Amino acid sequence: MSRQTNKKIEFRAFAKTGLPGLGRQLHFFLVSAMQCAQIIRKFVNYAYSMTDKDKKSKDLLARAYSLRTEKDRRELYQDWADTYDQSMIDGLGYLTPTSTASLLTQYLSEKNSLILDVGAGTGLAGAELHERKFPNLHALDYSAEMLAVAGERKIYRKLIEADLNQMLPFEDSTYDAMICTGTFTHAHVGADSIFELIRILKRNGLIACTVHKDIWEPQGFSQKIPALEKAGIIKTVVQKLGTYFSNSTEKEGWYIIWQKQ
Ligand SMILES: C[S@@+](CC[C@H](N)C(=O)[O-])C[C@H]1O[C@@H](n2cnc3c(N)ncnc32)[C@H](O)[C@@H]1O
Repeated sequence: MSRQTNKKIEFRAFAKTGLPGLGRQLHFFLVSAMQCAQIIRKFVNYAYSMTDKDKKSKDLLARAYSLRTEKDRRELYQDWADTYDQSMIDGLGYLTPTSTASLLTQYLSEKNSLILDVGAGTGLAGAELHERKFPNLHALDYSAEMLAVAGERKIYRKLIEADLNQMLPFEDSTYDAMICTGTFTHAHVGADSIFELIRILKRNGLIACTVHKDIWEPQGFSQKIPALEKAGIIKTVVQKLGTYFSNSTEKEGWYIIWQKQ
């Protein structure tokens, strides 16, 4: 390279940094050192926040299995909303939103059906339906914090904060179908809430849900479902035992589809 070209390069570098020779090298060294420090600081923050989050998720899971009161349940979901997906999907290999959405898809051919995600939480089941090209989704939950996370998915046309143990804020025969995963479970919602769900479901409408096998008897499903069938109000289309978590060998409960008659 000619001396003149060298000078030109040096001049351009000087023009960029405003420093000649050794000063320029020192400048580059300092800038690189600062960039390295920034990367290391980001990595340390990330590693710290991951361990912190993991610990929080484990504590929250332990709490979910020891709920006693209504207040406990509400507070649990307030605290869990931001780490729920991480602990359920990454931590436990939670399957029911995917499996229940697949099951409903087999029986619901009309893609424009208006579907209520009952006890929607952060919207895992809704996301599965959205992927299966169902665009008309509403989410119902009584936890404002969980619903806020569901809202961030931008897949629901409405978010409804309501209690499944109370009368629901809808006209009779509003929905074509419902999905309800992980809500008929330990210390959550029992069979009494089914009457309101049936009221707001259209005739021939479908409810696809999971019911944990441990609550089938104690929470009244074993008496109320046969009574509703006998009265010609619903028909059980499918009911099969299945696993709820990919890393479990046990079949935790039922996958069900009921149809309103
Ligand atoms: C285990 S989470 C399941 C969430 C979601 N369906 C899923 O599968 O990830 C249970 C959800 O039910 C909601 N829930 C519990 N009791 C409820 C009630 N009485 N009324 C409305 N939502 C309720 C909780 O707030 C929570 O979001």
